[in-house]
Amino acid sequence: MNNTIQRIKTRTIGLIALAVTICFTAIACSGGGSTQATAGISPEVAVDYVHTVLLADRTAYTKHVVNRLKTLEGKEKPDGVVPAEATEGWTETGGVPLPAQMFRLGSEVAAETADEKGIGFTYNLISTWNINDSHSPKSEFEKKAMEIVNETGEPYKEYQEIGGQQYFSALYPDKAVAEACVTCHNTHPVHLERYPDKKFEMGEVMGGIIINLPIDEA
Ligand code: HEC
Repeated sequence: MNNTIQRIKTRTIGLIALAVTICFTAIACSGGGSTQATAGISPEVAVDYVHTVLLADRTAYTKHVVNRLKTLEGKEKPDGVVPAEATEGWTETGGVPLPAQMFRLGSEVAAETADEKGIGFTYNLISTWNINDSHSPKSEFEKKAMEIVNETGEPYKEYQEIGGQQYFSALYPDKAVAEACVTCHNTHPVHLERYPDKKFEMGEVMGGIIINLPIDEA
């Protein structure tokens, strides 16, 4: 099990690094005073690649790890494939992390890796109705973007500056695509305490995936 998780993590980081490299290369080629005409990739497209990888890995983890702990090849199996389950308190129960927790763990590893490389690339899950405080919209940019995405249900993309560094940021809606999303969040003790009046419905925006790509100004 640990191996599977490790593999998914390693692959995610690898693919993100690749997407970011493509982005940087594209920017380096399109700006940088080069006289050669080159086919570049815009940050709008690069950020879509990163989002595709992040979403794909969360879905694959849910489908092929979390769900297989309950159901094996379509048949209910009381003890699952291995006697473990995906629970929020996985560190205490010896289970495996929920997909949202897995996502956050990945984003923490990516932030560390990016930091070591000095590339300042980050991503995170955020929500107006967050269970975990680390998912609250913090900057003015995140608050504004989250409000817009809650309303439109569409991705929001914009340049922003943080500490003198230019970023291209995108917030993609994270919608209630399964009944389990709605049920688990609406009945979660933290949700009930913090947002007693908020009842998620199917298809609704529950939060968003924010991706910040550092951009070198040409
Ligand atoms: C079994 C319960 C459970 C299910 C099912 C579930 N979530 Fe969550 N979700 C959580 C918990 C717990 C957190 C906080 C995780 C953490 O501590 O990082 C969370 C975090 C999130 C966040 C970040 C904001 C926050 O609340 O901290 C979003 C957005 C989110 N989930 C969306 C979804 C969507 C969309 C689905 C369905 C595809 C889903 N969740 C399914 C329990 C669940």
